[in-house]
Amino acid sequence: MTQENAASAELVQNMETCQAEDLASLTNCVKSLGLEQIQRHIFICAGPTFPQCCSTEAGLASWEYLKKRLKQLKLDKPTDTRPSCIFRTKANCLRVCSFGPILVVYPDGVWYRQATPDVIERIIQEHLLNNRIVTEYAFLTHPLPSPVSFDTSNIK
Ligand code: FES
Repeated sequence: MTQENAASAELVQNMETCQAEDLASLTNCVKSLGLEQIQRHIFICAGPTFPQCCSTEAGLASWEYLKKRLKQLKLDKPTDTRPSCIFRTKANCLRVCSFGPILVVYPDGVWYRQATPDVIERIIQEHLLNNRIVTEYAFLTHPLPSPVSFDTSNIK
């Protein structure tokens, strides 16, 4: 392994990601990441290429806080007593680009503004743990509808 590959592997390990060598080992990734047990998925704009909704530092501070708290509360992975988990993803930009950091919780479809560490703590305690939307910071609630088939006959 080259020095560059070793550094990259260490980075991936720190990110708690999964890398499958072949398609068959993707099953192991599914299990190790708890993908089948995801209850909610959080996306947050942090460290975008063109920071517009908040400073890069503020976005990354929120992202680090979210990761740290989900881990501390053992919400990031399924456990024997709670067979579900909350996934989190750092998005480059959620296209709202104002009043950031912008954070969205799926499948609830709740969009939050100004998701600073203090607000994230409230989202965790109130929304994620007690199913109460933090209305003070939610600017849209739009749960995703059931998938439908699109009529593609007019699409060229
Ligand atoms: S830069 Fe944060 S949503 Fe676009």
